[in-house]
Amino acid sequence: MGKDVIIACDFSTAEETFKFLDNFTEEKPYVKIGMELYYAEGPAIVKEIKKRGHKIFLDLKLHDIPNTVKKAMSVLSGLDVDMTNLHAAGTVAMMEAAIEGLTRPDGTRPLLIAVTQLTSTDEERMKNDLLIDHKLEDVVMHYAQNAKKAGLDGVVCSPLESPVVHEACGEGFCTVTPGVRFADGEKGDQVRVTTPAKAKELGSDYIVVGRPITQAADPVAAYRRCMAEFVG
Ligand code: C5P
Repeated sequence: MGKDVIIACDFSTAEETFKFLDNFTEEKPYVKIGMELYYAEGPAIVKEIKKRGHKIFLDLKLHDIPNTVKKAMSVLSGLDVDMTNLHAAGTVAMMEAAIEGLTRPDGTRPLLIAVTQLTSTDEERMKNDLLIDHKLEDVVMHYAQNAKKAGLDGVVCSPLESPVVHEACGEGFCTVTPGVRFADGEKGDQVRVTTPAKAKELGSDYIVVGRPITQAADPVAAYRRCMAEFVG
């Protein structure tokens, strides 16, 4: 699995996004586009960023009936993104349908990653709101195993969870991990954070880094520092 740093482009307009990306004249970082930007700017922003030579993780977290997810994934694969995702809570059948939809006529497809439980869902909310009466870690691991069973490529998780995910689902099952901060940086609203170097040590395959790069005085230097620590 190719280790890489993915920059979370959490901007609300194409203008801000391109202003940020224009800082990068030598390298073409892997970027994550989320719901905010995609809903504001539509598929055009994906096509434009792709045209500029970046790899794209389209973070839209699909969750619907299998047939709808299959058709939506088929549209996304036509956008030529490199990675996309869905909620494992949609069931194994939904995840299998997603793979079918995502696979292009030539047999290739973007990487498909599952969200297990969102980090905003704690054990109490899971129990009271969702009536899931199990330990949070057990639910996360069960969902990861379902994703693997359905043929997905990995999960989004904390770098701290990378070792157990790899142990349960195999080294080839990739971990895409947010919650990364420099040792001397601001944590912001992230609670459990790790440095890029620690994420590497824990075996993360991709780190997703937003504000430490997007809000840095020198975003290119911050990106290079991340790459140096994580990829080496
Ligand atoms: O700015 P920051 O580095 O905290 O950005 C992290 C990115 O990863 C954001 O786009 C955030 O939505 C996403 N993310 C996260 N924690 C998760 C899942 C996704 O921070 N559990």
